[in-house]
Amino acid sequence: MPSTYIFIPVSFCILIIATSLCSAADTISAGQTLAGRGGKLVSKNGKFALGFFQRSTGSRSSTPKWYLGIWFNTVPKLTPAWVANRENPLLDGTSSELIISDDGNLAIFNRPNRSILWSSQANTTTNNTIAVLLNSRDLVLSDASNSTTIFWRSFDHMTDTFLPGARVSRNKVTGWTHGLVSNKNSHDLSPGIYSGRPSPESANFELLLSWNSSVTYWSSGQWEGQYFSNMPEMSARYLFFSEFVSNDREEYYTYWLKNETMVTRYVLDVDGQAKMMLWSDASAEWIFFYPKPGAQCEAYAVCGPFTVCREDVLPFCNCMKGFSIRSQEDWELGDRTGGCNRNIPLNCASSNSGISGDLTDMFYAMRNVIYPDNAKHIETGSAEECEKSCLGDCSCYAYSYSVKRLDGARQGEKEFRAEDHESRRLTMGEVVRILEGLIKVDVPPMPKVLEAISGGTDSTIA
Ligand SMILES: *[C@@H]1O[C@H](CO)[C@@H](O)[C@H](O)[C@H]1NC(C)=O
Ligand SMILES: *[C@@H]1O[C@H](CO)[C@@H](O)[C@H](O)[C@H]1NC(C)=O
Ligand SMILES: *[C@@H]1O[C@H](CO)[C@@H](O)[C@H](O)[C@H]1NC(C)=O
Ligand SMILES: *[C@@H]1O[C@H](CO)[C@@H](O)[C@H](O)[C@H]1NC(C)=O
Ligand SMILES: *[C@@H]1O[C@H](CO)[C@@H](O)[C@H](O)[C@H]1NC(C)=O
Ligand SMILES: *[C@@H]1O[C@H](CO)[C@@H](O)[C@H](O)[C@H]1NC(C)=O
Repeated sequence: MPSTYIFIPVSFCILIIATSLCSAADTISAGQTLAGRGGKLVSKNGKFALGFFQRSTGSRSSTPKWYLGIWFNTVPKLTPAWVANRENPLLDGTSSELIISDDGNLAIFNRPNRSILWSSQANTTTNNTIAVLLNSRDLVLSDASNSTTIFWRSFDHMTDTFLPGARVSRNKVTGWTHGLVSNKNSHDLSPGIYSGRPSPESANFELLLSWNSSVTYWSSGQWEGQYFSNMPEMSARYLFFSEFVSNDREEYYTYWLKNETMVTRYVLDVDGQAKMMLWSDASAEWIFFYPKPGAQCEAYAVCGPFTVCREDVLPFCNCMKGFSIRSQEDWELGDRTGGCNRNIPLNCASSNSGISGDLTDMFYAMRNVIYPDNAKHIETGSAEECEKSCLGDCSCYAYSYSVKRLDGARQGEKEFRAEDHESRRLTMGEVVRILEGLIKVDVPPMPKVLEAISGGTDSTIA
């Protein structure tokens, strides 16, 4: 019965679309389809849209890909806030549609070969389901006859964006954590190398940023009642309120906007930094605040192997002397996981195959660098000894700090100094006094541009 009913407004819509009197629905139910070409759901408040969109891969050699996702409907620059099929982009969106499948799940259906290309894969107990794009930015699949029975929601499957109202969480029973995974590069929405999740350890709830799910390079620190210890600016509540909840089943952190007229998103960017982004109508662009970690070079391996990251120059990533960018295309799109390649193979490695004598391996000294995490240190008395031992060892990459041999460094090169951005941890006593209003937290001042947009500071601690 419902399927005959809903077709009436849908065809009515098509008839009058030319006069644009037809406002998009926020709901899709069994029997309805959302066409890959032009079809979209719009939340009741008009702020969010769900539909298929095309995205250039940024690569000259491959064709644009299609995604099903949610974007900011009031922002002129298409900005995905959630993507359904980031792992399986479509080659042709126009032949696909969003449907409620036979088992009640949301699905991307490919018409020509009648196959399902993506599904919400929830354990539905009925196929009479309904999906609604809510004002809260969440896409919710529920029982059509009982909307409190929710089978699936986009908020539980975040991509690179943490929207107000969503949760980063840890399931206390299974240990499963839910958080963010960056995009591969600035065009390609497939999963990238950086992730942001709660720590799997049960002792502390803290948010960790990791590279390749293995190297943790930043921690939010512990929840201090109103903010995470390494994010003191949260206590100022410039833009949002936060909440941390711990119950028998799970622990989660969520936040919501002070002023719903603001268009914001919290993103784990392709450069490994997590950033609060705010849309500015005046400048028609996203402005970001409080990147974490605070220094770009602290995002682990942000420039890739055999590179130097410098905070004080642009571009901040460069190959080491004697190396060249491995993939210019990936590099330009912000995916530098390939890093740089040695221009000329080390003579050391080829000395056994008879090629020797013409080329001589050199030792290049760099000053004031921070070693890579797994650096091998050679303890010697002098730079000369270090050089000698390194040149005799084919596994030595020969980049080292040296006090004596400064002549190796390029003339006029500025010293690189990594700033110490680590925030001081507050003691419990200080926290109590802060809550009592006796001392002020060292909150970074509100950025000028944010002040202008948000209508002034309100940095009191409640
Ligand atoms: C729902 O499931 C029933 C049987 O389980 C099936 O007969 C019916 O066609 C399904 N409805 C839809 C809309 O897929
Ligand atoms: C159907 O077509 C899509 C898009 O062309 C393709 O990705 C998918 O593999 C096809 N499925 C089958 C079962 O042929
Ligand atoms: C669905 O049910 C199966 C079997 O009970 C279970 O293994 C699976 O984890 C469930 N999936 C979800 C998304 O809850
Ligand atoms: C709707 O679902 C909720 C939870 O799934 C349940 O508690 C409630 O009894 C259901 N209501 C009806 C009318 O079936
Ligand atoms: C990431 O880790 C996997 C194994 O966990 C490894 O195979 C892969 O090479 C790593 N990626 C990079 C870029 O090192
Ligand atoms: C919300 O922000 C808008 C402009 O950004 C401002 O005009 C409005 O007064 C603000 N509302 C509140 C309750 O602060």
